[in-house]
Amino acid sequence: MFLPPQHLLSDGELEFLVRVFVKLGVNKVRLTGGEPLLRPGFTELVTRIATIEGLTDLALTTNAVLMPRHANALKAAGLGRVTVSLDSLDDSVFRLMAGGRGSVKEVLLGIEAAERAGFTNLKINTVVQRNINDHTVMHLVDHFRHSGHTIRLIEFMDVGNVNHWNKALVVPGSELLKLIHDRWALRPVKTQVAAETARRYEFTDGAGEIGFINSISEPFCGDCSRARITADGEFYSCLFSAHGTGLRDKIRDGISVEELTEIICGLWSKRADRYSELRNRLPGNLPHVEMFRMGG
Ligand SMILES: C[S@@+](CC[C@H](N)C(=O)[O-])C[C@H]1O[C@@H](n2cnc3c(N)ncnc32)[C@H](O)[C@@H]1O
Repeated sequence: MFLPPQHLLSDGELEFLVRVFVKLGVNKVRLTGGEPLLRPGFTELVTRIATIEGLTDLALTTNAVLMPRHANALKAAGLGRVTVSLDSLDDSVFRLMAGGRGSVKEVLLGIEAAERAGFTNLKINTVVQRNINDHTVMHLVDHFRHSGHTIRLIEFMDVGNVNHWNKALVVPGSELLKLIHDRWALRPVKTQVAAETARRYEFTDGAGEIGFINSISEPFCGDCSRARITADGEFYSCLFSAHGTGLRDKIRDGISVEELTEIICGLWSKRADRYSELRNRLPGNLPHVEMFRMGG
């Protein structure tokens, strides 16, 4: 499933693209995947991007398995924040959802390595699926209370076409909120900003925060300001897009900053994506680009 290396954007090409986006006003970049830590020389890429003037927030989403090997170097390279995916603390449930890759122990060791390297307030992404891992959510929440890290419970989305999505598998965030609030009282966090995907709550006993990403039951297309670039340089303006716009070959052909800026502005100003809001009115078999390509 890996693309040949020559198909991937090089570090220089990625840096060039990020510079153009930052010039256009982007101040936050998230490196995701696929698994970003599998990219050879990933730390050098982080160094190049972290030093771009105007970029104030550089984040990584990872399965954390390779974190013990890379955490210190990533901190030194200027990575600002880390999000770790962890769907359950029950190893058999975890393995079922992770397709056999990694183990709970490896993820927890990865989180510890990130802490030791000086990363604080990690986000822990948990995608909840009914009758798959929903019975293990309270254990996970309990584990990360008082840890300084923030669990985000994410509604299972119909990204891509191979994840066997079915509405019956979606556990609405409101249901989880009630369940957790009944056990440990929660109150909404007042500083919520519109572009934030998570509805943030804090435990009233001071145990920290928790977030709910209710992308199915409460779509937030109107507040979404995310552009996505795949590893081979396709631009997408929506997580659920079927088609992107190839930028890699234009960069390789020597496009100027001004020309690339114009293309991106054109794509952005025409964007009318609101798939999540329309989901219930659309046929169920529409093509989507897979999550490992688009990044979560
Ligand atoms: C696609 S993964 C890629 C990054 C990295 N390999 C990892 O495991 O974190 C990024 C994020 O996408 C989210 N994700 C993946 N599939 C999803 C789905 N069907 N619905 C909602 N979120 C999903 C998970 O929260 C995960 O943290």
